[in-house]
Amino acid sequence: MQQACPRDDFPVIWGLFIDFFAGLSLSFAMHEDIERVLIAEEVIEKRLDVIARRVHDDFASEESLQVVAILKGALVFMADLLRRVPLRLEIECLNVASYHGGTESSGQVDFLDQKLPDVKGRCVLLIDDILDTGRTLAAVSEKLRELGAREVKTCVLLTKDKERAAEVEADYSAFEIADEFVVGYGLDYDGKYRNLPYVGVLSPSVIQS
Ligand code: IMP
Ligand code: MG
Repeated sequence: MQQACPRDDFPVIWGLFIDFFAGLSLSFAMHEDIERVLIAEEVIEKRLDVIARRVHDDFASEESLQVVAILKGALVFMADLLRRVPLRLEIECLNVASYHGGTESSGQVDFLDQKLPDVKGRCVLLIDDILDTGRTLAAVSEKLRELGAREVKTCVLLTKDKERAAEVEADYSAFEIADEFVVGYGLDYDGKYRNLPYVGVLSPSVIQS
């Protein structure tokens, strides 16, 4: 690693001072783009305990449970939820895209993976970040059934309160939200904000710019 070269004529205390304020402005950069926090981190955590308990109780009699998570949106939710479920889980991920950078679903669900998971005869817990138009969950559930899954249960962090384009409901849903575009806790806008520890609404200026 390259070592910063200290300047003799520049007091160390000034360097620390500048670093401190530069660090502060950098560390809040992402949060400044958020107009409103919709679901706080502590609220999500408490709710995950409840959902995890339900999943555990419903699948406790299975020898092992096959989980299929939809990338990339389900990453954060899946990681936090599944660590609360003390069952023998096998985890597969599917790369699917229905948004292409904007704030509206393209209406088309593309399977980006060449290799699909082997779910023949398995009971599958399908995890996604959000149930919006329903096209993604409907298309992936159908694909898993085509691949021979015995049963497919769906689990989402968020359900948008709206009419669905595809007939599908989530078996487990942590929160119901209004029909607005949200980011954080796995959900992105143009590939960014997935690492926000809460769910929030972006400032309109970020979306327009
Ligand atoms: P659906 O197929 O319309 O139900 O949409 C599912 C996918 O659209 C989700 O997996 C998300 O990746 C994306 N999506 C839907 N609503 C939002 C949102 O409000 N913010 C970010 N992504 C969203
Ligand atoms: Mg997405």
